[in-house]
Amino acid sequence: MKRFVIAITGASGVCYAKRLFDVLQPQAELHLIISERGGELLNLELGLTSKYFAKENVTVHKNSKINASIASGSFPVDGMVVIPASMGTLGRIAAGTSESLIERAADVALKERNQLILVPRETPFSQIHLKNMLTLDRAGAMILPANPGFYQNPKSVDDLVDFVVARVLDQLNVAHHLTQPYKPE
Ligand SMILES: Cc1cc2nc3c(=O)[nH]c(=O)nc-3n(C[C@H](O)[C@H](O)[C@H](O)COP(=O)(O)O)c2cc1C
Repeated sequence: MKRFVIAITGASGVCYAKRLFDVLQPQAELHLIISERGGELLNLELGLTSKYFAKENVTVHKNSKINASIASGSFPVDGMVVIPASMGTLGRIAAGTSESLIERAADVALKERNQLILVPRETPFSQIHLKNMLTLDRAGAMILPANPGFYQNPKSVDDLVDFVVARVLDQLNVAHHLTQPYKPE
């Protein structure tokens, strides 16, 4: 079973995190971290609490618990996704502050050369945001913005969410049927 870390932070778009979680949970070992603001957004946008994620194969870590397994480079993981990624968390990861478990686990992913995907949701971007994203890309992370495409004729918000989550799953090398492969006319 693959092992992934999912971090939910305080950007709009927690539906992306829920969908990614729902697809991965039956087939992977998941380590979930929710920032304080991420928890508020979960409640505001989906009416959920962290209790929703208490399922088989899942460990929910406190963001303050800096000595959790996933804070160590000796704990192998197949990838980490920060989804949605607030500009605050993104900036702190770019600065290497490691003061919360989310920041530390991301720092570990970078230093161990493991996969780290950030799914930012902000518009417009300031020059500081853009510089932080460039810093992260240069350090080996992938910036995968929550930018759904429209060429598959989405019929619902769920289709738009699936488009973004499908791109994350592609990067994680997890097979899925969320979207159809692109077929040119
Ligand atoms: C309702 C609401 C929506 C927000 N949406 C975003 C957003 O889309 N992107 C973002 O970068 N920050 C957003 N923020 C701001 C972050 O929540 C804030 O910067 C917070 O400190 C991030 O904390 P965290 O990175 O520890 O989760 C939003 C805040 C609120 C209250």
